[in-house]
Amino acid sequence: MAVGWEWDDALFLGAAPYYRRGRIPYAPGLVDVLAEALELDGRGRLLDMGCGPGTLAVPLAHLFGEVVGVDPDEGMIAEAGRAAAEAGVTAKVRWVRARAEELPAGLGTFTVATFAQSFHWMDRDLVAAKVRDLLRPGGSLVHVSDLKPEPRAADTADTAETVHDLPHPAVPYEAVDELVRRYLGPVRRAGRGLLPQGTPGGEAEVYARAGFAGPRRLVVPGGQALVRTRDDVVAGVFSRSFSAPHLFGERRDAFEADLDRLLREASPSGRFSERRPGTEVFVWRK
Ligand SMILES: C[S@@+](CC[C@H](N)C(=O)[O-])C[C@H]1O[C@@H](n2cnc3c(N)ncnc32)[C@H](O)[C@@H]1O
Repeated sequence: MAVGWEWDDALFLGAAPYYRRGRIPYAPGLVDVLAEALELDGRGRLLDMGCGPGTLAVPLAHLFGEVVGVDPDEGMIAEAGRAAAEAGVTAKVRWVRARAEELPAGLGTFTVATFAQSFHWMDRDLVAAKVRDLLRPGGSLVHVSDLKPEPRAADTADTAETVHDLPHPAVPYEAVDELVRRYLGPVRRAGRGLLPQGTPGGEAEVYARAGFAGPRRLVVPGGQALVRTRDDVVAGVFSRSFSAPHLFGERRDAFEADLDRLLREASPSGRFSERRPGTEVFVWRK
């Protein structure tokens, strides 16, 4: 759990309807890479912890006999149900509204457990130990995240700048973050609290401490050019915990109007270009 912060159920309050539209999908080859690395054959059981709107559980469902997605956010669970219905996998997937720390009894055992950009919100030692108990011997724990860009060695302004060679302007992320800070204050918000030091890293030590072996690291390449509309970018902003809709209270409309203005100035056509990040996967074994 993050230092100086206590989890509460407003963490992603109101964010779910924006999530699927606003977030950039994982790298397109992710499902195939996982299928091969984990030798998925349509049998086995997947436990997807912090499943959000089914981002990973739904596209993986056809590779398992059964899938359980766990998330405490009511909106996320509702979106996940919709995504499963759209993909025709409802019969295979069960959604459980709970914190990973408080799983209901009787879920059974699993061959694979996934954490896709969710582990950092949890009581990590407790949850890693719990998942180890729920995995069958030889089962896999899979940690998935966007690949962070390599840190740049040079310190000059020129080299620190990313080359933008795409047809539409880049999303002005820094200006958007600055606008969020103007409304919500300089310290990152999370649920009803503040997250002064951000979310924790160093998950490898946590998994190793829980007795997992590995990891095997896999990188699924990104880089594909995407065109995003102004509404996609707005959805991305509201999909994030630190700018979730509830945080703006009565100033939400004012924020949205300012955000709209900022984005119109950055791209009068209303279109933005960016490249998909790669996806980084760590596979740990029980
Ligand atoms: C950044 S989203 C990731 C969603 C999805 N896994 C994905 O990759 O798109 C983080 C998710 O973790 C969930 N979450 C936060 N704290 C949690 C906890 N203690 N137990 C289970 N899920 C949690 C949130 O509700 C949210 O849906």
